[in-house]
Amino acid sequence: MELSKKLQQLPPQFFASLVQKVGAAVAQGRDVINLGQGNPDQPTPPHIVKALQEAAENPLTHKYSPFRGIGELKEAAADFYKREYNVEIDPTTEVAVLFGTKIGLVELPIAVLNPGDLMLLPDPGYPDYLSGVVMADVQYETLPLVAENNFLPDFNMLSQDTKERAKLMYLNYPNNPTGATADLEFFNQTVEFAKENGIAVSHDFAYGAIGFDGVKPVSFLQAEGAKEIGIEMYTLSKTYNMAGWRVGFAVGNKEMIEALNLIQDHLFVSLFPAIQHAAVAALNENQLCVSSLVERYENRRNTFINACKRIGWEVEAPTGSFFAWLPVPKGYTSQEFTDKLLNEADVAVAPGNGFGEFGEGYIRVGLLVDEPRLEEAVDRIGKLAIF
Ligand SMILES: Cc1ncc(COP(=O)(O)O)c(C=O)c1O
Repeated sequence: MELSKKLQQLPPQFFASLVQKVGAAVAQGRDVINLGQGNPDQPTPPHIVKALQEAAENPLTHKYSPFRGIGELKEAAADFYKREYNVEIDPTTEVAVLFGTKIGLVELPIAVLNPGDLMLLPDPGYPDYLSGVVMADVQYETLPLVAENNFLPDFNMLSQDTKERAKLMYLNYPNNPTGATADLEFFNQTVEFAKENGIAVSHDFAYGAIGFDGVKPVSFLQAEGAKEIGIEMYTLSKTYNMAGWRVGFAVGNKEMIEALNLIQDHLFVSLFPAIQHAAVAALNENQLCVSSLVERYENRRNTFINACKRIGWEVEAPTGSFFAWLPVPKGYTSQEFTDKLLNEADVAVAPGNGFGEFGEGYIRVGLLVDEPRLEEAVDRIGKLAIF
């Protein structure tokens, strides 16, 4: 049977070829240090696993969940936003429970746009944003993120026509892949720009917990009037090392939340209730696990960036997320440099062009192995005597 036209239009999975190349190298018995992916390496904190075990033993969790998720989880999400960001959220109308934020990011354009409408997407950006574009049959233009502007978009660069046509904009700070963070002033300007031009905003806060040098990342919803035009998507995948559990939520603007809930009424019967109860424990209970995780990533960042500087590589330290965004040396494309590192140093990284046109000239490193392994990766790169 042929795939539907829509599925045939889906963007190729850019990183599939990287995974294949790394797999082939490992199969040859090579000791590859894999810094190419974004999968947290630490286990879920034990008190959250225990909450799942206990909840799973209660037969009530074996039934269907309420369509829009259990009330306790929506309340926990609202309490979390009050406690962490001093943002008021109404748990009954301003929270949508998600199977991880990936699904929310893909669903949103289908839920609030019509075919042909225009979206604005960051470039470089998380590749799955493009899946939503195809699913919803919409068009997109990019918001270039460049080092000279601290990887923040410059709305003044957009043409009048683009500003008039755009209906929805995605942003993501702390940013994958650049590791950049945004401040409240930027989010205030974003709200102003979005209101002026009638553009809805969805802020992807996947790395919201991970900010360095004592600076806590700002929530988009802390900006004045943000809820009037936008939502924020939050995932437990990174904050609590729960990537495999598939749990997150969107909070903010009532109409956008209702649109997400409505499409989900037709697609799912929400998550396994025991997972929702464990998510409540994650959000409500002791947050020491989060601060020690951030400290771990910050130590890794420092070790890695210092090692890069030692071999003469001129790099900037990321201010958030668990990624480092590194310029490739002169004379190489992102792909050529990625191949060289894998073939000659047994170090796997993600080529920047996989995140968009403005990712060319960079590679992305995931700080998801221990410090000695990170140092070894840089030592191996140093031996290539490129810098
Ligand atoms: C920027 C960004 N957004 C969203 C996600 C999706 O996270 P999840 O679906 O696990 O909530 C990821 C995962 O890597 C990400 O990097």
